Amino acid sequence: MSIQKEELRSSKWFGRKGKDGFIYRAWMKNQGTPPDMFDGRPVIGICNTWSELTPCNGHFRDLAEAVKKGVLEAGGFPVEFPVMSLGETLIKPTAMLYRNLVSMDVEESIRANPIDGVVLLCGCDKTTPSLVMGACSVDLPTIVISGGPMLKGHWKGRDIGTSDIWRFDAASKLGQITQDEFVEAEYCMARTQGHCAVMGTASTMAVMMEALGLSLPNNAAIPAADARRKVLSQISGRRIVEMVRENISLSQILTRKAFENAIMVNAAMGGSTNFVIHLLAIAGRIGIDLNIDDFDKFSQHIPLLANVQPSGENYMEDLYYAGGLPSVMKEMQKILHNDVLTVNGKSIGENASKAEVYDRNIISTMETPFKPESGIVVLKGNMAPNGAVIKPSAASPALLKHSGKAVVFENIEDYHARIDLPELEIDANSVMVLKNVGPKGYPGMAEVGNMTLPKKLLEQGVTDIVRISDGRMSGTGFGTVVLHVSPEAAVGGVLALVQNGDRISLDTHNRSLHLDVSDEELAKRKKAWVQKEKIQPRGYVHLYQTHVEQAHLGADMDFLKGGSGSTITRDSH
Ligand code: FES
Repeated sequence: MSIQKEELRSSKWFGRKGKDGFIYRAWMKNQGTPPDMFDGRPVIGICNTWSELTPCNGHFRDLAEAVKKGVLEAGGFPVEFPVMSLGETLIKPTAMLYRNLVSMDVEESIRANPIDGVVLLCGCDKTTPSLVMGACSVDLPTIVISGGPMLKGHWKGRDIGTSDIWRFDAASKLGQITQDEFVEAEYCMARTQGHCAVMGTASTMAVMMEALGLSLPNNAAIPAADARRKVLSQISGRRIVEMVRENISLSQILTRKAFENAIMVNAAMGGSTNFVIHLLAIAGRIGIDLNIDDFDKFSQHIPLLANVQPSGENYMEDLYYAGGLPSVMKEMQKILHNDVLTVNGKSIGENASKAEVYDRNIISTMETPFKPESGIVVLKGNMAPNGAVIKPSAASPALLKHSGKAVVFENIEDYHARIDLPELEIDANSVMVLKNVGPKGYPGMAEVGNMTLPKKLLEQGVTDIVRISDGRMSGTGFGTVVLHVSPEAAVGGVLALVQNGDRISLDTHNRSLHLDVSDEELAKRKKAWVQKEKIQPRGYVHLYQTHVEQAHLGADMDFLKGGSGSTITRDSH
């Protein structure tokens, strides 16, 4: 149902007579705003995460200008505003600690201002879920534009991307590459604007946005350096004005079916395990009943259709040239909910209907996939009663069913201190266990789950062993890595009770993670367990540690679940 001028939120500011209207308009006019911008046209907020400290989003001023052109062309009034930006590579102790904080910034910035519709400029990993979570709690018409992946890197005659960092690190540990070569590879990898060039968390988030219907088709894969990224931004600017007039809010797009589509598409793309935690948090904000078991249920039996690193061999730009995400979704039309609405007013099925695949080495059919099973497996068992996750497409097939003795690290500092000690008792059959890197314990659930193997195993040619933690893993990481163990060690989960030498059994096919220690012994250990990780006494971190929920619920803060809508409750003018 279309909306009339006087029903727009912004009319409560700019449409007002007398002193109040004077104040609302006059100060905006000091920026050179012509009077007709206040004639009742939709006001579009452009929520920008540009920051030189978030290099993946360093080109967002250009994108914002393109959005503004589109908004003006469609008869809207664009207003750009900044929010806290999370650069994955620099922020300590981990960007995830601040995801919920940014979501609060975004929510309150949108609600408090005369905005009728929002464009979210998202890029580096956490900048997507944090903005979308905040916007969901307001529920205005909203469209997402992702920054786009970097072009792939080139070094010594071969293509490189973020996943190679882990390989370079192992090679440098073994003296196979020099420090100079290591540094040279930095420029060669990050040679253009944009986020990580592989199917890491940023691309996983961009894919999530397109699969949910929150962005225009092809948003997921157009490279940042490609002029078509600006075209998409300009058209998104035009479209958000129409969305305001058509009164299409986020909750009309984010239906249960849209979430199920996103889970299936993520599996076909070999997306990051971080997908789970962010989609759960977004669902919690918009009021969709989604739980961790849904990820297993809807991604089971979905094959890997995209041959993109780290599950495959190529890069996001290759995926775009091969047909982009609409082509992948077209291959999936038999299983997706094709009728769900997207931001362009068309259904997911309509958007994919004209897509073509130009390279079968990059995008496969459902019948002849790159790997028969992809997606995220949810493990349960006495070690993870509320669940843990593993990404089989990034793991070693031979280790997906494995039983071995635990080598325990009490926290990340303990791991760094002992991993390369000659006396560390560890072999290729061991299971590395890292505690206290979960939501409350770290705090912020660090991306350290794919611990680099000890040098002595690398020297033996061992490239993967089973690793288990309550933390997360970079979407660009790989290995047989069990993550997000819930409850985490810091709240006294069974993970906290694991001791060196305990046998742990992982059976991915049967979805189980078991600590082979008797219930009596575990009860004894629980009685003796002492909480070592402390709650910070003040500030945001105190708020976070006091209220953050466990990983299987999305690690949002309990008081942020749901939304408060877009109504201003008090009006002091
Ligand atoms: Fe920003 Fe990878 S570090 S997307």
